[in-house]
Amino acid sequence: MSIFRSTVWFVKGLKEYTRSGYASASKDFNPGDLDVLINDRSYMITGANSGLGKATALSLAQKGGTVHLVCRSKERGEEAKTEIVETTGNQNIHLHQLDTSKPRDIYHFAKTFEESGQSLDVLINNAGCMVNTRELTEDGLEKNFATNTLGTHILTTALIPVLSKSSKPRVIIVSSGGMLTQSLNITDLQFEKMKKFDGTVAYAQNKRQQIIMTEQYAQKYPSIHFSVMHPGWSDTPAVQSSMPQFYEKMKSRLRTVEEGADTIIWLAVAENPLKLKSGCFFQDRKVVSTHLPLAWTKSTPEQDQSLMTQLEDLSRRFQTEGAFGKS
Ligand SMILES: NC(=O)c1ccc[n+]([C@@H]2O[C@H](COP(=O)([O-])OP(=O)(O)OC[C@H]3O[C@@H](n4cnc5c(N)ncnc54)[C@H](OP(=O)(O)O)[C@@H]3O)[C@@H](O)[C@H]2O)c1
Repeated sequence: MSIFRSTVWFVKGLKEYTRSGYASASKDFNPGDLDVLINDRSYMITGANSGLGKATALSLAQKGGTVHLVCRSKERGEEAKTEIVETTGNQNIHLHQLDTSKPRDIYHFAKTFEESGQSLDVLINNAGCMVNTRELTEDGLEKNFATNTLGTHILTTALIPVLSKSSKPRVIIVSSGGMLTQSLNITDLQFEKMKKFDGTVAYAQNKRQQIIMTEQYAQKYPSIHFSVMHPGWSDTPAVQSSMPQFYEKMKSRLRTVEEGADTIIWLAVAENPLKLKSGCFFQDRKVVSTHLPLAWTKSTPEQDQSLMTQLEDLSRRFQTEGAFGKS
């Protein structure tokens, strides 16, 4: 990782991504933006049992929306569902068990959801991980890539038919400002060539890929509104377990989960995001640049296309099987 980029990024982070950064940015928020009725809207959020995902699900449930919680652990999912139903009194909370690092299961889940005839207005791809050793899934996929990139790609594209039936469909991807330190590397999506595996770089690569994917989806599916966002540095189990040193140093300055989830919720329910171009990157309810100044991280259209082609090729390997049942 370039020392220049990581230094500029960290200084930016201290100013913008912290609790004080949120306090300063939120002075420009329009408080009425979130006063919307969502009783007739349906939301799906991955990784909904913890951190930002749970805070988002709770807020959407509080506003009366139908919420589909997608969680990999039945037990943790049930706990979150019970808490959300008890806190909000909203009975339209549905739990789905899905590990988003398993492509066949995602296809199976999306097909079952479509066949159930349930509607979906907003998909929030929030589940994410930073695994600090190079581990493979049972399908031989590198775990960070399988969860953050391929899982997001397959879930999003497999749910396009359901989303397309909504009058105002939206897809939100929870990326990370950490991606600003990386330029897209299309030659090693699963980090096979990385000399010494670095989970932080792998994660930032995945989050950079999510930016490109969102831009590409926006072009390919113009009837759906896509956005990708950075929640700031928020106090969640992921930060504690995956970045213990960062957590120890920064814990007093981290945002609350509610502060981190604010822009996810805004993108999911407010009218104003729909007035902005599809495919943009957001931070604190504003479109922000996907590159640091002088960072040389821009990719070419050919590189972006290559990423999408590789994702499509990999997805195809799992698609037919998933459509006809779990293996
Ligand atoms: N917190 C921050 O400062 C920060 C900053 C930038 C970006 N983000 C992004 O925000 C998102 C939410 O993270 P968080 O900070 O709220 O962390 P978190 O509390 O650990 O939540 C992560 C969620 O993702 C789920 N998940 C992970 N792998 C999964 C898989 N294979 N299948 C299904 N679900 C899976 C986790 O499930 P389990 O509970 O079963 O593990 C958990 O529910 C992530 O995409 C992260 O990259 C966070």
